Amino acid sequence: SDRGDYAGVRVLITAGGTREPLDPVRFLGNRSSGKQGYAVAARAAARGAHVRVVSANVALPAPAGVEVTAVGTALEMQASVRADLGWADVVVMAAAVADFRPAAYVESKIKKTHDPADPEAAPVIELVRNPDILAGLVAERGDASTPVIVGFAAETGEPGRSVLALGAEKLARKGCDLLVVNEVGVDKTFGLDDNTVHILRRDGQPGIQAGPASKAVIADAILDAARDVRLGSL
Ligand code: C5P
Repeated sequence: SDRGDYAGVRVLITAGGTREPLDPVRFLGNRSSGKQGYAVAARAAARGAHVRVVSANVALPAPAGVEVTAVGTALEMQASVRADLGWADVVVMAAAVADFRPAAYVESKIKKTHDPADPEAAPVIELVRNPDILAGLVAERGDASTPVIVGFAAETGEPGRSVLALGAEKLARKGCDLLVVNEVGVDKTFGLDDNTVHILRRDGQPGIQAGPASKAVIADAILDAARDVRLGSL
């Protein structure tokens, strides 16, 4: 709805997927299109919010009335989000953040024959962990009730463990207020216009299932749930 229930509310959204450079022409990346994050941004703005998006490698136009800050890597995204933590009333972490980055950036393009002593050898790329931006925000918030923090979990499920069970574990582990769980796979969610999600609440109130529906409808359901958590804690 455009009833203005977000009038004056400051919403910070991460969207897209980080890219971790290996050399000047290569990166480790992921399949996130940014569509769901941008849909949340567009709907929040339509509902009256002040909206800032930290956008990683998204090839979509900025939604009307939304401030977009472009970043590339997880470390850049973390710096941008942390700078706005005090500004935000609601944070929606829709971006797919690389868990690892190459330990070293190679200044010139890595050659196919990189070891003259062994022309057939393939390079071994060492990775290091990226920070968990979401977990860091939850820790920085401490005992405060603002901002309301919404995490996402893209799960494929595992033998014997459903997508929902994995989501519940992740919600407990991350400590965010809401977790938007969606099922992903080769033909699911990434780059598509429709989405199905479960929105789980940390406070034990019942979760909500939304979809299959457009990412705009899913965005409204996420914003409804975040509004309810926020009003409950104000
Ligand atoms: O653990 P997982 O990557 O599945 O968690 C997904 C959630 O955590 C998303 O909200 C994502 O934006 C966030 N995340 C993060 N920093 C990371 C990895 C994930 O903020 N390094």
